[in-house]
Amino acid sequence: MNPIGAPFFSFQQDGLQVESIPLTQIARQFGTPTYVYSRAALAANLDEFHQVLSQHPAGADSLVCFAVKSNSNLAILNLMARQGAGFDIVSGGELQRVLAAGADPTKVVFSGVGKTESEMAQALEAGILCFNVESAAELDRLNAVAGRLGKQAPISLRVNPDVDPKTHPYISTGLKTAKFGVPIENALALYEHAATLPHLKIEGIDCHIGSQLLDPSPFEEALERVLQLLDALQARNIPIHHLDLGGGLGIRYRAEDAQPTVESYLTPLLNMVQGRGLKIILEPGRRLVGNAGLLLTQVEFLKPGEGKNFAVIDAAMNDLMRPALYEAWHDIIEVTPRAGQAQVVYDVVGPVCETGDFLGQDRALSVQAGDLLAVMSAGAYGMAMSSNYNTRPRAAEILVDGDQIHVIRDREKVADLYALEHLIP
Ligand code: LLP
Repeated sequence: MNPIGAPFFSFQQDGLQVESIPLTQIARQFGTPTYVYSRAALAANLDEFHQVLSQHPAGADSLVCFAVKSNSNLAILNLMARQGAGFDIVSGGELQRVLAAGADPTKVVFSGVGKTESEMAQALEAGILCFNVESAAELDRLNAVAGRLGKQAPISLRVNPDVDPKTHPYISTGLKTAKFGVPIENALALYEHAATLPHLKIEGIDCHIGSQLLDPSPFEEALERVLQLLDALQARNIPIHHLDLGGGLGIRYRAEDAQPTVESYLTPLLNMVQGRGLKIILEPGRRLVGNAGLLLTQVEFLKPGEGKNFAVIDAAMNDLMRPALYEAWHDIIEVTPRAGQAQVVYDVVGPVCETGDFLGQDRALSVQAGDLLAVMSAGAYGMAMSSNYNTRPRAAEILVDGDQIHVIRDREKVADLYALEHLIP
């Protein structure tokens, strides 16, 4: 079976390779654990969105804002910007990052429930496209900050349509019980309040219901409710210029699974908004980067046990937190398969002192110490959620472009990790 990410990731003579570069070569040159991305895969993923949008009349005025939280490496942001993407940010830090990566600030939307005054000021000075406001209190704060700076803040309200996205509870955001957005039944009153605030300019409606959605129908259900709100706003002479439909389109994490196409997700939504003269904004993260990256790691020890066998690898939960946090599945495959050798079932674990430190459980592998493994689908929420727990320097990041290897983040050194700490006299 082809690995996830084919044809950009494929098995050739030297085992698994990314575009034209064998992973064995990357491990030899740069060590492990290392995140490895394919430039062509990144480009193809964004292009899929651009194609579907450009082929639909309702997509004529549209903007794909990459959700920076999913992968914030400067080189990746820069490639997205060069390919025409905007950005969905959730902090002043992410704003600084996208500007450093060459983003056009007029293509940046700012989401998040806790924007500070200084983050608001920073974004107003930069001249971003829109603030996605998540509460009544935030409307008032933003109005005050914009007033002090002599500016008008462009806003959408992030509405919470109360639909069940049928995904992991930690990553579903559109339910009534979530901290995100404002309940859609309160939105009308809040828009009317916003319209009275002199330093706000109402631009759109925003909605994000969750992440890793494999069934597109909740998106349609949410949009239906958003369009009812839009009609009510227009009836009250509150014009709306854009709809931000958020991110959330899922990817496959198992090679044998199918995943919805961008077309099957977007076309029904575009049909629903057609003829309304709206700009369409999307905020995909995972779908653009998830299957364009993998985590390359080496087996340190095999540890046979009574009830379980363990393959101890040099990557851990601090490098890729998703399995520990969400019990998420990532395919784990041998970089150089050992033909004819029997498979053994292992828990693939890291060296961190936590029982939750596994990258995969009950995996049939034929490996020996020193072998390389690839943890697939690690391009989104992998490096971005990594930490230095157990004083582990974070992995290097490599971007492969055809037969070229680019180091896009150096491996951290231990001294970097305590450089900001101080002894007391
Ligand atoms: N827009 C907003 C407002 C969001 O909160 C998110 C993700 C996105 C866009 C991008 O969603 P995506 O297209 O990537 O699904 N750490 C979790 C995922 C958390 C998602 C949080 N919000 C994971 O590893 O599965």
